[in-house]
Amino acid sequence: MNHPPRDTWLSRRLQALSDELSRHRVLWQHAAFRAPVLPWESDYPQLATRLRALTLAEAEALHGDPPASAALLAGWLPVDRWLSLAAVARARPRPLVAWPRAFARDVPGRKWAQIDAFVAVLRDQAELPCLEWCSGKAHLARALQQQWNGRRLSALERNPVLIAQGRELARRHGMLIDMQRCDVLDDEVLCHLAQPVHVVALHACGDLHLRLLRCAVAATLPAISCAPCCYHLGAAQHYQALSRAARASPLALGRGDLRTAVQETVTAPGHARRQRARMQQWQLGFDLLQREQRGIDEYLPPPSVSGAGDFAAYCRGAAQFLQIALPSAVALAGYESAGAERFRVVSALDLVRHRFRRLLELWLVLDRALFLADHGYRVEVTEFCARELTPRNLLIQARAG
Ligand SMILES: C[S@@+](CC[C@H](N)C(=O)[O-])C[C@H]1O[C@@H](n2cnc3c(N)ncnc32)[C@H](O)[C@@H]1O
Repeated sequence: MNHPPRDTWLSRRLQALSDELSRHRVLWQHAAFRAPVLPWESDYPQLATRLRALTLAEAEALHGDPPASAALLAGWLPVDRWLSLAAVARARPRPLVAWPRAFARDVPGRKWAQIDAFVAVLRDQAELPCLEWCSGKAHLARALQQQWNGRRLSALERNPVLIAQGRELARRHGMLIDMQRCDVLDDEVLCHLAQPVHVVALHACGDLHLRLLRCAVAATLPAISCAPCCYHLGAAQHYQALSRAARASPLALGRGDLRTAVQETVTAPGHARRQRARMQQWQLGFDLLQREQRGIDEYLPPPSVSGAGDFAAYCRGAAQFLQIALPSAVALAGYESAGAERFRVVSALDLVRHRFRRLLELWLVLDRALFLADHGYRVEVTEFCARELTPRNLLIQARAG
């Protein structure tokens, strides 16, 4: 279609994000894990010195306190501009009919709170039957049927175990959800889109929500509501923009950048977190070792070595995998402590890259929204809940015509 996107808010913001992300590419396209020194450190020597002086505890505290990290970085970087570029309006929730008590019991707490928030802001599309895409146990479909006066609801899911559990849940609640086993990446999905439906998707991963948008456009579905997640899953090495505006922009993203967009500060409980940190320290120490042993200053993705009880065992497994000769066990100890030190620095320097996560995510969501606008949809992008409930809280709602 040749008409320009109707929603100028979306295209203007995409343009502004493209400019800002392109201008500051050097700050977010290099993960500190992959190089002992980052290219931007020579452009911002004072900032680099300040961050490198942080203790690990200070760096971790800043990761958990975005306003404090913004205040620190603002001495060198236009953080306030980035915050306003990342801002998206919260959708206004409508009051919901009280849920039957047993409803929430069947859904893990956080997921239930997300569904509650999602349903409260969905635009009810004039009695259209509704189809949940990649539904899992179809918790969302049941919630919608309950709120929308017994509306016809169907759900597509690939996993037969989840379908059986979803059917059982619907039966227990006396609801009629037509759960179909379907691989949405396969042509079999098209027969489910032959009638006008409002298609809804909560947290459909990368290629699954892209498939939804493409199929919905091809079938000219009247209404689409989609909260995307995991943009990197199923993505090609080089990101292929969908919308005309994003294709015309100078921003080129790779799969790693899509992963950056959804990278979260690890909030795992104590033990799991310590285990993860120890493995990363070993990997960083081994990275220094492999560069020296090979005589090539180049990052190699560290192999995962299962069951390694200490650093030496990890190095033996990794070196065997990469076919690298190892120095003596005595020399290895130095690399272990160097890995721990690098871990502290990586955590501190990543405060800069992590500032761009929401900007990257919003750019990707706007690309999807503008793709729908390119095809004649009226599109809205909002936040459906607070980030504390789920960081994947961006919602695209589109109506044909
Ligand atoms: C992240 S979960 C989201 C489930 C649900 N919407 C929710 O928010 O709890 C993604 C779901 O997609 C399903 N899935 C994955 N690949 C699929 C495919 N090719 N076709 C249909 N469903 C698929 C998975 O089995 C899983 O239930």
